[in-house]
Amino acid sequence: MLDEVEKIRRVIGGAIAAAAAQADLEALRVDALGRKGRLTELMKGLGRLPPEQRRQAGATLNALKDELTAAIEARAKALAASELTRRLDAERVDVTLPVRPQPEGRIHPISQTIDEMVAIFGEMGFKVAEGPDIEDDFHNFTALNIPPEHPARQSHDTFYLAGDGAAAPKLLRTHTSPVQIRTMKAEKPPIRIIVPGRTYRVDYDATHSPNFHQVEGLVVDTTTHMGHLKGCLVEFVRAFFDVADLPVRFRPSYFPFTEPSAEMDIGCSRAGGELKLGAGGDWLEILGCGMVHPKVLANCGIDPAEYQGFAFGMGIERAAMLKYGIPDLRTFYEADLRWLKHYGFLPLEMPSMVGGLAR
Ligand code: DAH
Repeated sequence: MLDEVEKIRRVIGGAIAAAAAQADLEALRVDALGRKGRLTELMKGLGRLPPEQRRQAGATLNALKDELTAAIEARAKALAASELTRRLDAERVDVTLPVRPQPEGRIHPISQTIDEMVAIFGEMGFKVAEGPDIEDDFHNFTALNIPPEHPARQSHDTFYLAGDGAAAPKLLRTHTSPVQIRTMKAEKPPIRIIVPGRTYRVDYDATHSPNFHQVEGLVVDTTTHMGHLKGCLVEFVRAFFDVADLPVRFRPSYFPFTEPSAEMDIGCSRAGGELKLGAGGDWLEILGCGMVHPKVLANCGIDPAEYQGFAFGMGIERAAMLKYGIPDLRTFYEADLRWLKHYGFLPLEMPSMVGGLAR
């Protein structure tokens, strides 16, 4: 029997130490200690031994049983630990990787700039209004106090659509100002809108495109005055260009639909041939503005004795070029993916006054 005990210790003990999986350990346990296991069979034979040998042999078998049980437990623990290490290695998460793959697409600088303007003016209580790209003479010119023979019409170089002969031909709007008319005809003051949108003129060079974008602004209320115009626009340019002390100046100007009219400049420096926004002794024109002409209010059925307002208009491409250092206007429309990758914006980073305008 002692030979048999020694054999079990050697064979099973060795196999336990070499077991590669929990399932192998369990098979070995059954083989040695199970109901029909080798050690169990030996224990069953104890009853046939004389009493004094029985005690001795019983002690030996019990010792082997304890030894094998302990060996199985120890090996099981070791296997579990190495299994954990293996899984940790295999399932390692690199927390420095980006949350998701970088999206390929980009937001076009024009869309981004519009979103930024909407965020800033939205915070001031403006809502966004829209109008048609195809306009008529009344909304684009006449109601804005630009009569038929007015010289201001020529500077607009209008695209006319083929008419049917009877009615006056439609046209592509030359500015976003006709949406002032549409809004004032449709809504009662107080009015506070911005109008970002497409505009068209017969013009094409490095600083002009036949299709471009403007944002219009209109505020009409009983007490609206030039101070509101200035405060609103100064606040806007400082937020938009992200220069807290951006110098501004208002120059007297002329637009048929405002009286008085002004152009607003922002401070810049051109030292060393490099354009920098901010204090620097130089000026850049950024927008046109003024107090809504009483005739324009009256053309829309608003009593100029009771209401007054201010308006402004601004080129979106120009604002984007200045803010983002884009040198050539024509590149905006070339749909060049490399350009878009360089000047475009990530889709998930939507501009807001709390989250930031652009990163
Ligand atoms: N409509 C003008 C243009 O296209 C821009 C403009 C100037 C709009 C003054 C306004 C304004 O509302 O008050 O050049």
